[in-house]
Amino acid sequence: MNFDDMDESSPHDPMNPTYDPGEDEKEASLRPRYMSEFQGQERIKENLLIFIKAARERGEALDHLFLMGPPGLGKTTLALVVASEMGADFKPTSAPAIEKPKDLAGILTNLRPGGVLFIDEIHRLKPAIEEMLYIAMEDFELDWIIGQGPAARTVRIPLQPFTLVGATTKAGMVSAPLSSRFGISLRFDYYAPEELASVIHRSSHILDIKIEDDAVELLAGTSRGTPRIANRLLRRMRDFAQVKGAGTITKDVVHDGLGRLEVDYLGLERLDREILKAIIMRFGGGPVGAETLAVSVSESVESLEDFYEPYLIQIGMLARTPRGRVATPAAYRHLGMEQPNENGRLQF
Ligand SMILES: Nc1ncnc2c1ncn2[C@@H]1O[C@H](COP(=O)(O)OP(=O)(O)OP(=O)(O)O)[C@@H](O)[C@H]1O
Ligand SMILES: [Mg+2]
Repeated sequence: MNFDDMDESSPHDPMNPTYDPGEDEKEASLRPRYMSEFQGQERIKENLLIFIKAARERGEALDHLFLMGPPGLGKTTLALVVASEMGADFKPTSAPAIEKPKDLAGILTNLRPGGVLFIDEIHRLKPAIEEMLYIAMEDFELDWIIGQGPAARTVRIPLQPFTLVGATTKAGMVSAPLSSRFGISLRFDYYAPEELASVIHRSSHILDIKIEDDAVELLAGTSRGTPRIANRLLRRMRDFAQVKGAGTITKDVVHDGLGRLEVDYLGLERLDREILKAIIMRFGGGPVGAETLAVSVSESVESLEDFYEPYLIQIGMLARTPRGRVATPAAYRHLGMEQPNENGRLQF
């Protein structure tokens, strides 16, 4: 079926084999392909391997899978791993790239039986596309409207069974009808330092980087619980070791390197500290609204909410209250500032 005849063509083409939903090329070489390479997240892996084994034994597609969690924790990676472990095709796209019903129809009708369709940022689907997806997910069919006005009629197009893997950093923005259609929902947690140490060991092996154990430990502790950051810091430390050191990443190299990158011992970067400082110094410790706060540090609300805040909340430096963001006592301590006394005045 050629859906192009039914609609004007769209500038985005998720069917294009070179379509790339924002993947950093350097990440690709480090991206695990199989579950045995995927470090940490033991609970998620254990359950998933059982579901995969069961589906394979029955010769069925794996149930639809919903992945939630902050950026860089391995959602896209896990989707790819699931496809490899199922021995299925992997088709990645993202919600903003699916502009028209025919985009989705094109993707779904081209999937092979049991194929894995990965939709990133699934909270951004357009309502019309989302409704099409409901029927596709439930019945493996598409409702397709042919013609216009009184002559319009709906045809049902059968689909091959497939697995939808939907990923989001904003689980709260996914509608209940959509989230309830996923048979398996998994929430990613930040990685423990030992898990990040395994990520760093694996990556340094692949990249052929020499790194000492105490350097791994230090890096793991400053990677904000996030494999993507661990890999990024590792590459920067390799640069420092190569140019400023003797080629091996030692604890001293990491220490010096983190200082140069303005990353502190908790993994906070300059902007993290600026956010906390802004709350404390410009807004009396809070509460301050997300928009005002974002403007005051020249960031978008999106990146404030999706990227910076979750980790600051996780480590107990920032709290979200109904009236806005608040700096916690731990934030004052970390920045070496004193909390206001009874008169409400700051002391530095
Ligand atoms: N469990 C893991 N083991 C080893 N490496 C990992 C793991 N999880 C993620 N990585 C590494 O971190 C990188 C980022 O992961 P990924 O792109 O899957 O994150 P994501 O959750 O999809 O992020 P985003 O929300 O920004 O799309 C990957 O390229 C991979 O190299
Ligand atoms: Mg991703």
